[in-house]
Amino acid sequence: MVKIITVIFLNILSKFTQDFMAIGEGFGKVILFGEHFVVYGLPGIASALGNKTIAEVEPAEKTEIIDNRPETPGYKEKKKEQQEKSMKFIWKAMGLDPEKNPVKITLSGDLLATSGTGASAASCAAIARALNVQFNLGFDDEKINQIAYEGERGYHGTPSGIDNSCATFGGLIWFKKNLDGPNTIERLSAERPIEIVEGNTGLTADTAEVVADVAKKREENPEEFKQIFSEYEKVVNEARNALEAGDVERIGQLMDKNHELLKRIGVSCDELENLIRIAKENGALGAKLTGTGRGGYMIALTPGKELQEKVAKAIENAGFMVLRTSIG
Ligand code: PMV
Repeated sequence: MVKIITVIFLNILSKFTQDFMAIGEGFGKVILFGEHFVVYGLPGIASALGNKTIAEVEPAEKTEIIDNRPETPGYKEKKKEQQEKSMKFIWKAMGLDPEKNPVKITLSGDLLATSGTGASAASCAAIARALNVQFNLGFDDEKINQIAYEGERGYHGTPSGIDNSCATFGGLIWFKKNLDGPNTIERLSAERPIEIVEGNTGLTADTAEVVADVAKKREENPEEFKQIFSEYEKVVNEARNALEAGDVERIGQLMDKNHELLKRIGVSCDELENLIRIAKENGALGAKLTGTGRGGYMIALTPGKELQEKVAKAIENAGFMVLRTSIG
C-alpha cells in the first residue's frame, strides 16, 4: 500500500516539476588538434569531456540568470557582459521573447567555467536544450547546435562551431567549418580511451581578442601563414589516422608539432610553456595548449593511470590546478 502511494506521489511530483522546470545539459570539450586553424576552414579534432554544464529553466517574474557553475576566480565576472549578449542571440534564434515569457535560468554542473574547457558553448547548449523543453519547441540536435552556435557568437564574435558541436553531440569529433555551407561533423572512434591531463594556467583569455590578433598577424604575414596552414593540415590528417589506430606515440609527437605551429601564430604564453615543459619532463608523450591560448589550459597525453598521476602531481606541485580525464 505504502509503495503504491509512493509511486503515485512521485508521478504527480514529476508531472508537477515537468510543468514548471526544464533541464538541459551541455558537454565540456577539449580541442586535441586545430584551435585557431579551424577558424580558417581547416579540420580539427575535439573530444567531449565527461564534465557538463546543467541549465534549469523555470517560469519567473522577470528573466534572470543565476550562475552557480564552479569557476576559475574572476571568469564569470569577466564574461558577464558577453553572457548577456549571448542570451540575446539565443532568445532570437529560438524565436522567444524574454520579456513576454520571463524565466529564471540556473546554471550548475561539474564543468569548471574557465578558458579552454568549452564552458561558454556548454552553457549555450544546456540553455538551448532547457528552453526547448520548457517551451515545447520540439527542436532536434541539429537545431540545438545551431542555437548554441548563435549563443557562442556573443562570446567569440566569429566562432568556428567546434565547441558548440562538441557541447551538443558529445564524443570524439572531426570538425571542419565549411566557409560557404554546413559544417562537416564526423564522429571518430578511438581504439581505446586515452588518459590525459589538463593543466590550468589560471589566466582567462579573451577568445575574440586572440582570434582577432591571429587574423591581423595573418594579414601581415600571408606567406608564412600559408606555410603554417599547410604544415598543420598534414599534422591533423595524420593525427586522425593515429587516433583511430590507437598509436599513442605518434599522437603525442603530432600534438607537439601542433603546439609548435600554435606558437608560430602567437597564441602561447610563458605560463603555458611552463606547464608544457613540466608535463614533458615528467613523461607526457605530447603536450600542447588547448583552446584559445594565452592562458586557459594545456593538455598532456598521458596513457595509463600511472603516467597520468605522475604528470598531474608534478603540475599540481608547481601550484596549478589540473583535470584528470580521458579522450575517445
Ligand atoms: O578557448 P576555447 O576553448 O573556447 O576555444 C576556442 C577555439 C578557437 O579555435 C580559438 C576559436 C573557435 O571558434 O574555434
